[in-house]
Amino acid sequence: MTSAPARGRTDESKGAFVREMFASIAPRYDLANRVLTGGLDERWRRRAIRLLAAPHGGRILDCCCGTGDLVFGLTRSDPTLDVTGVDFCRPMLDRAQSRAARARRDGIHFTEGDVMAMSFASDTFDGATMGFSLRNVVDLDAALREIRRVLRPGARFVSLDVSKAPNRLYKRCFDLYFYGLVPLVGGIVGGSRAAYSYLPNSLTHHPNAPELRERFTRAGFARADYLALMGGAIAIHYGTKE
Ligand SMILES: C[S@@+](CC[C@H](N)C(=O)[O-])C[C@H]1O[C@@H](n2cnc3c(N)ncnc32)[C@H](O)[C@@H]1O
Repeated sequence: MTSAPARGRTDESKGAFVREMFASIAPRYDLANRVLTGGLDERWRRRAIRLLAAPHGGRILDCCCGTGDLVFGLTRSDPTLDVTGVDFCRPMLDRAQSRAARARRDGIHFTEGDVMAMSFASDTFDGATMGFSLRNVVDLDAALREIRRVLRPGARFVSLDVSKAPNRLYKRCFDLYFYGLVPLVGGIVGGSRAAYSYLPNSLTHHPNAPELRERFTRAGFARADYLALMGGAIAIHYGTKE
């Protein structure tokens, strides 16, 4: 499952393409996010964190953490959590690390790595999250299997992402925003029109919400399901390792 601009490349070069694209927008990524969603992304993240229902004092993994929004959201929601963010884009991680230094909080770690092949032992984490990233991983199924591997039995994985709204009229309006306004505003605020054209396109070849639920199940997650927000334009998928 790759985006149109990345098709026809090897998996390795697709990964490098995605990494470089995020490196190019890292400096203004947070600002662009807030502007493009009118700050609603913070609300969706809090919803995803509530759905994770992380155990008090638990060890949580945030996959494709970027600049760390979910990591900081998790520790804000429960300061006893020990949260590790993993991402393969150094400039995004650098920003996450400077935020962590400013926050001066224990229990926040960032590490460079590919979520399709992580260095953590199996059965390590009490929960895992991912924000706006499943569309961007080169092999969605490999990533889901790998995330499940590092979870302890009973732990949940929650993924928040853009999705395909089922209502045709609503979808048309959302498409105008997503494929028209996002590249324009992302170009101005985020600093790269090319990257903000790639990001919406990565949805085109992504499974719709019920199909993605099925992929969670196929990867071995039990009780896989999703919560649709914004008329289905945003979806939070989740599943449990048994
Ligand atoms: C749209 S950003 C989302 C960042 C953050 N999760 C958020 O909610 O704002 C996507 C992130 O996924 C990372 N990424 C994409 N594929 C990855 C992979 N295979 N392994 C690790 N990180 C990956 C990118 O480097 C980028 O930081």
